[in-house]
Amino acid sequence: MADTGDLKSPAQFRAYGFESRLRHQRPMGRGKDNIHVAEACGATGRKRASWSGHIAFVLAAAASAIGLGNLWRFPYLAARYGGGTFIAVYLCLVVTLGFTLMLTEIAIGRKTRQSQLTAYGRLHGGWGLLGLIATVIPFFILPYYCVIGGWVLYYLKAYCVMAATGAQLMGEAASGSGDFFSAFISSSFAPFGYGMVFVFACAGVIVMGVRNGIEKSNMVMMPMLFLMAVAVSLYVVFMPGSGAGLKYYLVPNLDCLAGSDGRFSVALLGKTVLGAMGQMFYSLSLAMGIMITYGSYMKREDSIERCVRRVEVFDTLIAVVAGLMIVPVVYMFAVKTGTPVKEAMDAGPGLMFITLPKVFATLGPAGPTFGAAFFLLVAFAAATSAISMMEACVASVSDLLGLDRKSSTFFTAALVAFLSTFSALCYGPWKDVTIFGMQFLDFFDFVTNSVLMPITAAATCVFVGWVLGPRVVVDEVRAEGHGFRGERLYVVMVRYFAPALVTAILVSETCRAFGIGGWRI
Ligand code: PHE
Repeated sequence: MADTGDLKSPAQFRAYGFESRLRHQRPMGRGKDNIHVAEACGATGRKRASWSGHIAFVLAAAASAIGLGNLWRFPYLAARYGGGTFIAVYLCLVVTLGFTLMLTEIAIGRKTRQSQLTAYGRLHGGWGLLGLIATVIPFFILPYYCVIGGWVLYYLKAYCVMAATGAQLMGEAASGSGDFFSAFISSSFAPFGYGMVFVFACAGVIVMGVRNGIEKSNMVMMPMLFLMAVAVSLYVVFMPGSGAGLKYYLVPNLDCLAGSDGRFSVALLGKTVLGAMGQMFYSLSLAMGIMITYGSYMKREDSIERCVRRVEVFDTLIAVVAGLMIVPVVYMFAVKTGTPVKEAMDAGPGLMFITLPKVFATLGPAGPTFGAAFFLLVAFAAATSAISMMEACVASVSDLLGLDRKSSTFFTAALVAFLSTFSALCYGPWKDVTIFGMQFLDFFDFVTNSVLMPITAAATCVFVGWVLGPRVVVDEVRAEGHGFRGERLYVVMVRYFAPALVTAILVSETCRAFGIGGWRI
């Protein structure tokens, strides 16, 4: 299929804004190019950059995938849906549906050597619109993601101050009212201010370029994230009394699938599967084209299948480890304070920002340091994901407007800053403004996770499974003589199960949002 030599229009040439930025990378680590110019492509002589090898690719994709989804969303969903049961369902989905979707996106990117904006249209003229939808999604997610990133920074600062000065900033939270969080998110400037710090910190990394900014920051933040995650979880695992909480988290508890009459409930199983599926999408950064763009820099010598498996392993590992850090301490806290375990675990999004601080407060003098380490880890994870999303936005802006990196970064940051105002102020001064009964932040989350991403994913599967035929992807995976162990699974998944499962999310989430049929996930 076409390489960059087949570019037809000036817009397509401009689509190389992103990779032209990648082109002059200086050597990284041990004198090897992390990204280097792979080849002169065709008659135009345009060059396409590529990752130096599968490690560089896996690190970049894992940096995008590992984020708030792993540290904030996974533990509370796992706690809510019966710990081990949820983990088991999630693992099954990752190795089937997640594998299918990620492999498809990366193969599309590598085959077309295009970013998401133009890749679909390149494969089939009539499907260009899908690329446009995929391109729009990060513009919706990034603003609210940065607002939550701002919340994390606020907590990080509070814990650092507490650790350094011994001040009791979270007195109210510790005493159980959760006021620290409500006071913060309902104030008129602070959520916006911290969100802006997060937006411009990410923009600062991006403007420094791929090698000096993104890669270097990943090289520092990702290993630190792993180390901190392992250290904090080991601390928790070896804390006296953590056994019951660990059991609650890791051992599948089928009781959670029993309805009020004590019998197995298909509806509860359905909710668990749908919850796990939505989480998987979000966590693997699927359905918004980031993996297409990243795949477009992958060399044909590298095995797509192997890379996908590694990214899945890293992402799932960090999610499971995040649960190890959080669930046992919340369990111990519940037992200590006499709160019903289910209620303590069911704090939903508030688990990280309300329940955990209460838990840290019970750890005595170690609490603030523990809290600071935890929120630093979360801040790193959130930043690496936000940076990958912002890079995708910057690439699209430079494609569409023909701007250089600096100007498109500035433009994107300003746009994201503007859009994030809505999510930043939606629990404070604008708390009465709702769209379809949802606050701005919830609305953006709903439109992307529950509507646009499932539509993009389902349409991508139909496109590959039925319009192009799975062979196109299979051949790309098998390029250069690579094996494809999951081929049969892939073909069946992409044609039948993946579109059906993804459509189920779309329908159930829409019903949930509008309260149709009593769905509550
Ligand atoms: N995967 C990221 C997380 O788990 C979120 C994300 C989604 C990042 C889509 C980039 C793109 O938090």
